[in-house]
Amino acid sequence: MFEEKGISADVVLSDLRGVLQEDCTYESGRPVASMSTTPHQLGVRVLVEYLEKNAGRLHTFQGSAQIEREVVGMIADLLGLENPHGTTTSGGTESNILAMLSFREYAKRKTDSPEVVVPKNAHSSVDKAAWLLGIKLRKSPVDKEFKALPGGIERAITKDTVGIVATAGTTYLGQIDPIEKIGAIAEAHELPFHVDAAFGAFVIPFLRDLGLGNFTFDFSVSGVTSISADPHKMGLAPIPSGCIVFRNKKHLDTITLKVPYLGGISAKQSTILATRSASSILSTWAIMKHLGRSGYRTLVSQCMKTTRLAVERAHANPELTLPLEPVMNILGLGTTNMPLDHVVDRMEERGWSMAISPFPRTMRVVVMPHVTESVVNEFFNDLDKILT
Ligand SMILES: Cc1ncc(COP(=O)(O)O)c(C=O)c1O
Repeated sequence: MFEEKGISADVVLSDLRGVLQEDCTYESGRPVASMSTTPHQLGVRVLVEYLEKNAGRLHTFQGSAQIEREVVGMIADLLGLENPHGTTTSGGTESNILAMLSFREYAKRKTDSPEVVVPKNAHSSVDKAAWLLGIKLRKSPVDKEFKALPGGIERAITKDTVGIVATAGTTYLGQIDPIEKIGAIAEAHELPFHVDAAFGAFVIPFLRDLGLGNFTFDFSVSGVTSISADPHKMGLAPIPSGCIVFRNKKHLDTITLKVPYLGGISAKQSTILATRSASSILSTWAIMKHLGRSGYRTLVSQCMKTTRLAVERAHANPELTLPLEPVMNILGLGTTNMPLDHVVDRMEERGWSMAISPFPRTMRVVVMPHVTESVVNEFFNDLDKILT
C-alpha cells in the first residue's frame, strides 16, 4: 500500500533491512550460479558519489561522455581493436539486441524476412532479441564439447540471413565457439558476425596471458564485426554495466537514431534506453583504471585455481559427472544416479542459490571471486552428503 503519510527514515531503513534478510548475499558465497559478484569497493564509492549523472543526456554531462568513450576504448583495446565505434549498455541482453538490430537494419534492402544463424549454445537473450526484432533464428548444432560446428552454421545460411552470432564464454559451460572458422564463413558470405563475449571478454584474454588456453576470439579475427563485453560480470563493476564494440562505424550508424528534443551529443543515441546511469559507467572506468590488466589477470588466476579445486572435488565423487572439463571458471555438474532436481532442491534447503542449465542439463557453478576455495569445499561437502 502507498500510505498517505510518510514514515521516518530510520523506520524505512529498518523495514528495508528486515525484508532484505531474504536476499542471498555474495559475501555468504551461496550464489554459486551467479555471473555477478560483489562489486569492487572503489567502484561502489564512485557509483554513490556520482549517482545523479545521466548518460542519456551526455550534452549536459560532457565529462561523463568523455569517460564513456574511454571505457569503450579500454574494452576495445582489450579486444584487439584500435579505433572502436561503440557504446556502453545495460548488459549482455541489451548488447545482443543492439547487435541483431544492426544486422537487421544493415540488411534492410536485402530482405523483409531477416534470419540470424546462431548455434544452440547461445544465451537466451538472443531468442529475446529475435522475438523483439521480428527476426527468425536458425539454430545450428554443436559438437560433443558443446562448441558451435562451423559446418552447421554454413549450412543454416539462406538468402535471408542477415548475420551470425556466436559465443566466447557460453553461459552454461564457459565454452568458446571456434571464432576464427566462423569468422571465415561470415566473410565468405559477406555477413556481419557478432561475438557474445559478455562473460568471456574479461576472462579469455587473461587465460592467454596465464598460459591457461590460447583462444582467438576477438577483433584479431577479421570476420568479427562486433563484440559484447560485460564489466558487471568478471569486470567487477556494479550493475548495470555492459558494452558493445563495433569494428566499423557503418554498423554503429545503423542503430543510431535522432532524439528530436535533445541537443549536442545527446541528439543521437545508439542505446535502447534513453535515461540511463552514467555513474555505473564512471564506476567501471575507475575499476578498470585501478585494477589495470594485471589486476584482472590476478583475479582470473585466482578464479581458475579455485575452479581446479572444484574439478578435483567433482572427479572425487563418482555420483557426479562433468560433461566438459572447464575451459574457464564455469562448470556444469551432472549426476549419475540421483535426479538433478532432487539434488538441487536439497542444496537449496542447505542455503545454496542454485541453477539448472537446460543444455546440457547440469547444475551450473560459476566460480566468481565470491566463490572462494572454502566456499567450494563447503559446497562439495554438502553435495557429497546429499549424494551418498
Ligand atoms: C553469454 C551471455 N550473454 C548475454 C548474457 C546476458 O547478460 P545480462 O544478464 O547482463 O543481460 C549472459 C548472462 O548470463 C551471458 O552469459
